[in-house]
Amino acid sequence: MGIAIIGTGSYLPELRLTNRDMEMMVDTSDEWIVSRTGIKERRICPKEYSASDLGVFASLKAIEDSKIKKEEIEFIICATITSDMYFPSTACIIQKKLELENIPSFDFQAACSGFIYGLEIAKGLIVGCGYKKGLVIASECMSRLTDYTDRSTCVLLGDGAGAAIVSFSEKEGIIDSFLSSNGNYGDLLYTPAGGSLYPCSFETVEKRMGFMKMEGSTLFKIAIYSMSEAVNKLLERNKLKKEDISIIIPHQANYRIIAGVAKNLDIPIEKFFINIEKYGNMSAACVPVALDEAVKEGRIKKDDLIITVAFGAGLTWAANLIRWIK
Ligand code: ACO
Repeated sequence: MGIAIIGTGSYLPELRLTNRDMEMMVDTSDEWIVSRTGIKERRICPKEYSASDLGVFASLKAIEDSKIKKEEIEFIICATITSDMYFPSTACIIQKKLELENIPSFDFQAACSGFIYGLEIAKGLIVGCGYKKGLVIASECMSRLTDYTDRSTCVLLGDGAGAAIVSFSEKEGIIDSFLSSNGNYGDLLYTPAGGSLYPCSFETVEKRMGFMKMEGSTLFKIAIYSMSEAVNKLLERNKLKKEDISIIIPHQANYRIIAGVAKNLDIPIEKFFINIEKYGNMSAACVPVALDEAVKEGRIKKDDLIITVAFGAGLTWAANLIRWIK
């Protein structure tokens, strides 16, 4: 008895912010951004939309892909660090917009590792609590946390959403997950204001405390180490060889981080699905968007073994071992 992904969907807003656009905003260059990060453009959520809207668009595609009726969904969980508001949860707002009533819906956050945590939470709900089908969403409007005067962070971030329909399954689809965190590294990546510690005030606006702060080069090294560790743990625990894995779906923070993980693990970079050039870092949405694109591009076939892997604020890091049984 287990759980499997039976449908995926993603949504990227149409508006593109290219490296040329960034050159007009801060002291940077297309050459620097491409060579240091691999990013060429990112998508930006229009003003009238928020994380719940992107989440709804991605969810509708996942529902269609799964061929289930939306009424079969028994829970909605949403990973986001850019929720529409303090409360209610973005998951409840999505529930309303999908016109689904009287099912559990809640948000959780593990920053960029959110979707990977979410699949394990969904497994607990289905295998441990008896739910049959659920919707796992990761939706992010990172542009709303981005300081477009800070060249060290603004070139990295973009908006988007991904979703998956998960279902009770005779055959195990989410075989194993490795989840971890270390709060001691919390001050490497955070947004100080907007929570109960520093609620919005004139001071927080004046000091630009509502924007993401980051120590990039330290994170860079930890990211390579932690993502490699997560993949290795899953391989060891499940007695698998690297060659048994068909594709790795990594968090898309920096091409050089993905290349560093590939080198560390001695796995060819071609085995990693990379779309960072189109979208930049969409936090928790990176992994489900990449998974959806990999499926739709025919890079994933029935019975393939997949590893998803990410790191993010917290710091958190995580990986899923998935058999594609759709
Ligand atoms: N354009 C031009 N120059 C820049 C830019 C830019 N956009 N940004 C920084 N620089 C400069 C720096 O000021 C520095 O100049 P200096 O040497 O004169 O001081 C130089 O480039 C090198 O800076 P580094 O920070 O050492 O550059 P690095 O090679 O480490 O690349 C980067 C920086 C891209 C941020 C990298 O460290 C990285 O990707 N880190 C991980 C970031 C990450 O994944 N964060 C997660 C974020 S989001 C989330 O989780 C929600």
